[in-house]
Order: sequence, then C-alpha cells, then structure tokens
Amino acid sequence: MTQNQFDTIVYAWIAMAVLLLPVQLAVTAPYGRHVRPRWGPVIGNRVGWIVMEAVSPIVFAAAFLYGGAPAPGPVWVFLALWMAHYLNRTFIFPLRTKTAGKTIPLAIVASAILFNAFNGWSNGFYLGSPWAAYTAAWFLDIRFGAGIAIFFAGAAINIWADNRLLALRRDGKSGYSIPRGGLFERVSCPNHLGEIVEWTGFAIACWNLPAAAFAVWTAANLGPRAISHHRWYRREFPDYPQGRRALLPGIL
Ligand SMILES: NC(=O)c1ccc[n+]([C@@H]2O[C@H](COP(=O)([O-])OP(=O)(O)OC[C@H]3O[C@@H](n4cnc5c(N)ncnc54)[C@H](OP(=O)(O)O)[C@@H]3O)[C@@H](O)[C@H]2O)c1
Repeated sequence: MTQNQFDTIVYAWIAMAVLLLPVQLAVTAPYGRHVRPRWGPVIGNRVGWIVMEAVSPIVFAAAFLYGGAPAPGPVWVFLALWMAHYLNRTFIFPLRTKTAGKTIPLAIVASAILFNAFNGWSNGFYLGSPWAAYTAAWFLDIRFGAGIAIFFAGAAINIWADNRLLALRRDGKSGYSIPRGGLFERVSCPNHLGEIVEWTGFAIACWNLPAAAFAVWTAANLGPRAISHHRWYRREFPDYPQGRRALLPGIL
C-alpha cells in the first residue's frame, strides 16, 4: 500500500466520524444506563467490554509487527502509551465495574470491535511502517512534550473520574447516584472529557493522521454520550446541580 492510499482510507474514516455525528447525537448508544431491549441479542456486560476492547491492542500489535520497519525511539513511547491505556481499558476497568447481571447488546460489541480494529490497525500499521520516520530530535519537539503532557493530564482525569463513578457502588448498590466532587461539580462526564483530552494529546505527540483520526472519533463518540448522560441525570434527579454542564465546564 502506498502512503497516499493509506491517507485516503484514513481521511475517509475521519469523514465518516463527521457524517455520523448527527446520528450519534440523535440515537443514544444503548449500553450502560441507556441499554434498551429492542437492540437484539445481548451478552454479559463485563465479558463484552473485555472482548471488544482487547481487539485494539491485539490488532495494533499485529499491524505494527507486520510493518516490520526499524522503530525509532518515539515510536516505542507511542506504543507503550497505547498498550498502557488498553491494559486499563481491557482488563482493569471492566474487572472493577459493579456490573453483575447487566448486559450489553451484541450490536454494540460488534460495532466497537470494528471501531477498535480500524483504529488499532491504522495506528499500529503507520507506526510500524517506514513513514513513521521520527528521529531522536522529535523528543525535543514542542509537539512531543506538550502532547505527552496533555495525554497524561487526560488519562489522569479519565482514571480519576472512572474511579469516582465505580466508588458510587462501593456498598453493594447497583443503581445510580449523583457523582460529586472535583470536576464532577462542573461537568457530568469528566471521564469522557479526560478520554478526549488524552487522545488529543496522543495525536499532538504523534503528529500523524491515524492518531488524529482516533482523536476525532473519540470526541465524536463521547461528546454525544456525555450529552445523553447529562440529559438522563437531569431527568432522573430533580435535585441535579443546575450549573453542571455535560462535558466542557461552562460551555457544553
Ligand atoms: N475512546 C472512545 O471512543 C470510548 C468510547 C466509549 C467509552 N470510552 C471510555 O470507556 C470508559 C467507560 O465508558 P462509559 O461510557 O461506559 O462510562 P460511564 O457510562 O460513565 O460508566 C462508567 C462506569 O461507572 C458506572 N457509573 C456511571 N455513572 C454512575 C452513577 N451515576 N452511579 C453509579 N455508577 C455509575 C457505570 O455503570 P453502568 O455501566 O451500569 O452504567 C460504569 O460501570 C470511559 O472512561 C470512557 O471514556 C471510550
């Protein structure tokens, strides 16, 4: 495959995220609190998360190895960040959720598998190819330093917020309550905000097309999900804090 062909495929993938945004805003993805019966067969929530998220690091690693180009130092940093994120998302996060008895539609698992397969393939393939011609000087580039700092800030917000949500069911509860403290006082979904910041930082540090595509897709998935969560909280809890926004403090 030439780099032009690869770029065309990834640009089409970005265009799809933009074109599907109105659909994502109109149709709330049916998992977690929004699960609905008419979405067909289901499987256990925990196993669904592990299966669909494992696809990303596996496909990434396979595509990276397939490229086989000698990887310069910055590429190993990007690979380590990807794998660290997916170690958490594939195993640590699902194994910690209080999700006994909950299910996830196979349609969601299948679409997440496709999503993770494409992003894992495009990012792993690019970083394993000779096109990823980073030199040691990239370590000193402002985009690398700023991007890595933004990645870690986003990851910290994401993990902190997910931990806070998981702690709401600490006492064996299975329902939902109003999350409080820290960024939760400003927005309903700091975990989604953190994830968007994280992958934006990754895209800045990598400064390549597939990483940018993944950041765009993450925002296109999680922006609408945060809006749906926010509306749900306001519907379910009459005492929901008025000043709290969905995703961006004071803005959205
Ligand atoms: N990169 C991407 O495109 C992408 C896409 C999707 C998700 N993600 C990431 O995956 C993680 C999970 O996503 P998600 O959308 O499932 O997050 P979520 O809806 O906020 O749920 C996170 C966990 O906390 C529980 N929870 C949430 N709010 C609660 C409340 N008010 N009271 C009690 N428990 C509560 C949920 O239980 P229930 O499951 O029972 O609701 C779930 O176990 C997030 O970190 C997100 O950023 C990334």
